[in-house]
Amino acid sequence: MADTPRTATLTLDGKTYELPIHSPTVGPDVIDIRKLYAQAGVFTYDPGFTSTAACDSTITYIDGDIGELLYRGYPIEQLADKSHYLEVCYLLLYGELPTPEEAEKFETLVTRHTMVHEQMHMFFRGFRRDAHPMATMVGVVGAMSAFYHDSTDITDEYQREVASIRMIAKLPTIAAMAYKYSIGQPFVYPRNDLDYASNFLRMCFSVPAEEYEVDPILSRAMDRIFTLHADHEQNASTSTVRLAGSSGANPFACVAAGIACLWGPAHGGANQACLEMLREIGTVDRIPEFIARAKDKDDPFRLMGFGHRVYKNFDPRAKVMKESADEVLGLLGIENNETLKVAKELERIALEDPYFIDKKLYPNVDFYSGIILDAMGFPTSMFTPIFAMSRTVGWIAQWKEMIADPQLKIGRPRQLYMGDTARDYIDVEKR
Ligand code: ACO
Repeated sequence: MADTPRTATLTLDGKTYELPIHSPTVGPDVIDIRKLYAQAGVFTYDPGFTSTAACDSTITYIDGDIGELLYRGYPIEQLADKSHYLEVCYLLLYGELPTPEEAEKFETLVTRHTMVHEQMHMFFRGFRRDAHPMATMVGVVGAMSAFYHDSTDITDEYQREVASIRMIAKLPTIAAMAYKYSIGQPFVYPRNDLDYASNFLRMCFSVPAEEYEVDPILSRAMDRIFTLHADHEQNASTSTVRLAGSSGANPFACVAAGIACLWGPAHGGANQACLEMLREIGTVDRIPEFIARAKDKDDPFRLMGFGHRVYKNFDPRAKVMKESADEVLGLLGIENNETLKVAKELERIALEDPYFIDKKLYPNVDFYSGIILDAMGFPTSMFTPIFAMSRTVGWIAQWKEMIADPQLKIGRPRQLYMGDTARDYIDVEKR
């Protein structure tokens, strides 16, 4: 964060206060109000954090007006096209693209940590079969701190590193186990000779009774989905991870908190909700009815996969996702899939509708991801777990950045209290 001598002046009750302004490397300036309460005795009010920067970070940058997403400065389109997920993980965690030697070392390390403690199998069996895989994941990832307590001391840099690698390596195994458990099939152990995405597909779709060949196009599409979801600066789940971590909680507990937050339909749960919506629409002729409902103030229905707090233009991830959808459905010979047709037509109609134009509502990453995952054979209940495992690296990179910051403070927002003022307790017989 490069400081400049510029300040903003606040006048309050006849007094003026000078508030420092910080200029980022790119993006809007930030007014520093850290000393405001001490100096002026007032708080700022910003529910939903629409105008508040809660930290400084060097990891991910979004320009929502032009639809730009950069990981460590690299545009997401270039990474989705030329890189692969584990390289992106390295970039997010360590700030630079790896040399060939660094990449080999990192990938070997991750690959060697993909198995989970055997006793975790028993832990899984405590869940009901019909539990949502996200419910299972929140529980199992939280329980990692019970299985791997040799990497929960957050003051030890080495342990932080070990915990980070463990989570990146084991989350696919845990997500696949959650899926297998929910459908009553045996868990499939990871295979170290496969790349990250192929290994995940195999753990989800192979059964001991048959050989399973991973299609390289599907594996590439899976890897792209991981890359597109890897980080997204200070969104709700990442802020949850940071807030949990600011108290000194262990990284497994923090990531479990992030998974819990991601589950909501306004956040990561939107990919499941979006495909369900597209299926409910069913055919192109029913689109106008749903567009009308989305615009009706008295109807809580919203177009899932549309709109974003930060993007007021195309979500760049949605563009890549749309290309991938065409590629995957083409490969599988289902390019005439009715859901894809509905999605494309819905997008076209919404983008020409003044309601969506005026409110700058564009398709987000979740609009097409569900169609691809569905075509690959995943049930809707697995969409958000896949998002969670992809985002784990982002949560960890942000958590590590925060823990290494000497200025770390516990996160503790203030409030605008509108409740009763102090009053005396009334004995029960007098109420
Ligand atoms: N359909 C219809 N109207 C919408 C939609 C939508 N999908 N999204 C926003 N609007 C309208 C709101 O009704 C509101 O209208 P108003 O100003 O007349 O009251 C206006 O657009 C602004 O919406 P807010 O909810 O205030 O915007 P916010 O930034 O808080 O919400 C959000 C962003 C939660 C993503 C919202 O657009 C939404 O609910 N989208 C659908 C769910 C979704 O796709 N979520 C995934 C987000 S991406 C991700 O997490 C990976």
